[in-house]
Amino acid sequence: MTDTSPPIIFAPQRHEPLVDTFGRHISYLRVSVTDRCDFRCVYCMSEHMTFLPKRDLLTLEELDRVCSAFVDRGVRKLRITGGEPLVRRNIMWLFKSLSRHLDSGHLEELTLTTNGSQLGKYAADLAACGVRRVNVSIDSLDEQKFRTITRWGDLKVVMQGLDAAAKAGLKVKLNAVALKGVNEDEIETLVRFAHDRGADITFIEAMPMGDIGENRADQYLPLSIVRARLMNTFTLEDSPYRTGGPARYVTVRETGGRLGFITPMTHNFCESCNRVRLTCTGTLYMCLGQDDKADLREPLRAGVTDELLQQAIDQAIAAKPKGHDFIIDRRTSKPSVGRHMSVTGG
Ligand code: GTP
Ligand code: 5AD
Ligand code: SF4
Repeated sequence: MTDTSPPIIFAPQRHEPLVDTFGRHISYLRVSVTDRCDFRCVYCMSEHMTFLPKRDLLTLEELDRVCSAFVDRGVRKLRITGGEPLVRRNIMWLFKSLSRHLDSGHLEELTLTTNGSQLGKYAADLAACGVRRVNVSIDSLDEQKFRTITRWGDLKVVMQGLDAAAKAGLKVKLNAVALKGVNEDEIETLVRFAHDRGADITFIEAMPMGDIGENRADQYLPLSIVRARLMNTFTLEDSPYRTGGPARYVTVRETGGRLGFITPMTHNFCESCNRVRLTCTGTLYMCLGQDDKADLREPLRAGVTDELLQQAIDQAIAAKPKGHDFIIDRRTSKPSVGRHMSVTGG
């Protein structure tokens, strides 16, 4: 006998989307899975960093639960960051587990930002988990300078990582922080390098986050200057391309490639902010440049129901501030926020 009753669809309960008090929809969660890193970039960390004790970290299962709670609330894009996310032990488990939300169609993009040092090892596995795009930081193509900027990094290994990413079919965006007197002579070379490889590239203004043991004003190079210089060589055509991140893109007519500018210092993009950040200890930061936060680890470890976890998320989103107020000048020696970028993951 054939069964004619309608199929039972086990669709999980979907909750209301997350909207803050300024009417901004939160559709993008960035998750720092570790504050540790195998590099010590001069604009990001001081040479001697103290890292969090491992017991303070959310387990991979706990991270999975929080991410899934956000997906339930309409988050469409998850970016795994660090520190260096690929140095976290067994991190592929998390990617594999989260990829179920891609399969279900609830999540549009699962991606990561990495320094590239472990891509040789993981690129193929990442692609198998549904990752389509990776952002890789490369601030210089000169081996010596790369070492000076990252203190511990090896450009050759990162290049092998880029090759592995290409082989695995991952699209790459390169990130370069514009640094006065350090890589400003390489801007054009970096653009050509990226576009020759079919990669997008974004330049980033250094942000005053955490004590790095030197004055930020010595590093800071406004992207208005970088753009003006590039226009001496290239024709930059405004592009409507958007990734959901803060970069504003142009197409370089001569190369046909895409070039983005991330300008938290010279042009604030907070009015269209769509994201919040989870740290590896379960603290939710509502803005990269402010201290407003909510602890999700405590309720998680108290064994709360999904409903109560959602309430904690609602309360947090209601406290999302209007935007950041980063300042870099000679008179201001204190960073605008005390925590390093590696804590909130950029
Ligand atoms: P896609 O656009 O998806 O490729 O990602 P993205 O450029 O937003 O992410 P990525 O991790 O590559 O970050 C590049 C830079 O943008 C990092 O230096 C981040 O700190 C910075 N950034 C990302 N989101 C924000 C934000 O909300 N505020 C500020 N001030 N900077 C941000
Ligand atoms: N200012 C701007 N960008 C930074 N990054 C790390 N620290 C800073 C900072 N203080 C960048 C890294 C990486 C991304 C996640 O953030 O180079 O591309
Ligand atoms: Fe590590 Fe990225 Fe910070 Fe460099 S910028 S030290 S690669 S977390």
